[in-house]
Parts: sequence; structure tokens; C-alpha cells
Amino acid sequence: MVQDYLVDSFGRRISYLRISLTDRCNLRCCYCVPPGGFPLTCRTKILTYEEILRLAECFVDLGIDKIRLTGGEPLVRQNLPYLVKGISEFPEIKDLSLSTNGVFLAREAQALFQAGLKRINISLDTFDPAKFKWITGLDKHEAVLTGIEKAIRVGFRPIKINVVMMKGMNDDEIESFVAFAMERPVEIRFIELMPTRNCFDPGKRYFVSNDWVKGEVLRWTDLAPEPSRTGDVAEVYGLPNGIGRIAFISSISHSFCSECNRIRLRVDGTLKLCLHGEETFDLRTPLREGRSKAELTRLIREAVQLKPQGHRFTGSVADEAVVYMCQVGG
Ligand code: 5AD
Ligand code: SF4
Repeated sequence: MVQDYLVDSFGRRISYLRISLTDRCNLRCCYCVPPGGFPLTCRTKILTYEEILRLAECFVDLGIDKIRLTGGEPLVRQNLPYLVKGISEFPEIKDLSLSTNGVFLAREAQALFQAGLKRINISLDTFDPAKFKWITGLDKHEAVLTGIEKAIRVGFRPIKINVVMMKGMNDDEIESFVAFAMERPVEIRFIELMPTRNCFDPGKRYFVSNDWVKGEVLRWTDLAPEPSRTGDVAEVYGLPNGIGRIAFISSISHSFCSECNRIRLRVDGTLKLCLHGEETFDLRTPLREGRSKAELTRLIREAVQLKPQGHRFTGSVADEAVVYMCQVGG
């Protein structure tokens, strides 16, 4: 039962929790994983599904009604449908979703759907297998496409396809992405490249603003604006002559901070209050000390007060480069 909503010190109601299930990934996306890799969280620190469900119960009590499972790659964890089922059984959860790179999706889609997952986000930056290998380090393009088609057949809705646009890499494929959305019940989401600690793009050579992407999209189709969904950072458009949708996530050129309703639970049970900030709060220790639900919810309330007002995606990359996406799940 919700007692009192979770509200941060700037009056923002927090209702959306992103849970990172692992920092491991079977891909090595250039904008995510640093070239030499990064120190993986030691296995003993990784929360078990039981521990995640115990924390989820506290968050649900505090009014969290939307949960996304992220990674690394969540599908590298064994028996994910078990966790999905556990979370989907909280009646208060109105929205449960999963972000995946799609490589193992063809194999897992049916079981995940049956366990109660109804919607899914899949990463796909290109339709060219050679570029896919360059971007992700692996030859898994075909597997991802198969995974997407399987997700459509199994019945996930909506299916969102995350596309990180990069100048000189995939910015010539906008027409193909539009065509893909025309013919399928998917939402193509163009995401602006964010600077990360690996400084994949220190000179911003690859950065493309979504204003430019939208201009290109408009060469191939009209866009019909859809009402904004609460807490959604995307600007969404329907396709007058197609089945799917097109969306733009412009976290670099437009800030969402004032409406931010989300917090993140890292793989080691650390609560991360802002994607781009250093503010964190350790929940694993009290959880493993066997603290009561009342105590844990009190600690979560306390932690949320650390949420900063905003990020500073304006100046130099040195300022901005604060996270590896693989550790926080985007
Ligand atoms: N910039 C933008 N998006 C990123 N993602 C990961 N790293 C970055 C980055 N540097 C997003 C991509 C990917 C998802 C898992 O996280 O959308 O599809
Ligand atoms: Fe893996 Fe996603 Fe990071 Fe790519 S962006 S390396 S798929 S976690």
C-alpha cells in the first residue's frame, strides 16, 4: 500500500525505477564500453533476484509504479523470467519493461512474455552488418534482427528500437529506419550520443543533434505529433502512412531534468540518483544486514533527497563524462 509518495528535495515525484541486473554484456558498443574494458562488479556484490524483489517491494510501497530492467545486457543473467514474474506480480506496477541488445532475444522472448513482460526496448544502430560489427565489436547483426522479428510475433507492444545516431557512421541510414517503422509495429527512437567516460567521441566528431535527424526524417515522411506520455523523455510522432512511430530523445540538446522522475538501482545495490551525477546511496549493506522493510523504505526516502537538480551537459567533455553506460544501463 502506498503511504506517502517519494518526493525529492526539488519537489519532483519519483515514480520510475531502472534496475540494472548486470554490468556484463555480450557486446562492446563503442559509445558504451571503454576500449580496455572496465572493472566488473565482483559477483558477491551482485544482488540476487530475491534481494532485488525485496527492494522492489519497498520501492513499490513508496509509489514506484514503473520499472525498467537494464544492464549491461539483462539477458546474460540466468532465469530472467523468474524475476520478471516476481515484479509483474506487484499489482501496483503499471509498467514493466526491459532494455536489451536483442542478441539473445529470439531465444528468450516467449518465456519473458509469458512471465508478464509486455514491452521491450531493443538497440539497433544500423542495418549494415559490417557497421554493426564496428559499432558493437561483434558479428551479431542477424541475431538482433531475428530477435526483433520474434518480439513482434510474440506480441510485445510497444517495441521500441533505440538508435544512437553517429555522424559518418549511420547518419546515412535514416531513410531505412523510417522504412522499418513504416512496415512494423515498432517505435524507432533516435537517441543523441552522450559523452561517456571512455571519451569515445572527445571532439564531438560523431555527435549529431536530433534537430538535424528530424529534418532528415521529414524528407521521407510526414510526422504526426502524439501527446507526450508523462515522465517520458521522448518526443513521439505517428506515421500517417505507416504502422510504427518515430521518436526523438534529445538529452544533449534539451534537458529533461526539471521533469525527471527516475532513479537507478545499480547491479551492486547502489542507488544512483542521477544518470550523470556522482550522487549514490548504498542499499546493499542495510539489505544484507537484514533491516526491516520499514527501515529500508526510510533509507530510500533519505537517499532520494540526494538527487541533484540537474546535469551539466553543456561544457567540455571532461565535465560531462561521468559514467560508463554499461554500469548504469543508460
Ligand atoms: N549515448 C547515447 N546512448 C547510449 N546508450 C548507451 N551508451 C550511450 C551513449 N553514450 C544507450 C543506447 C543503447 C542503450 C542500451 O543505451 O540507446 O541502445
Ligand atoms: Fe552492451 Fe548496451 Fe553497452 Fe552495447 S550499449 S555494450 S549492448 S550494454
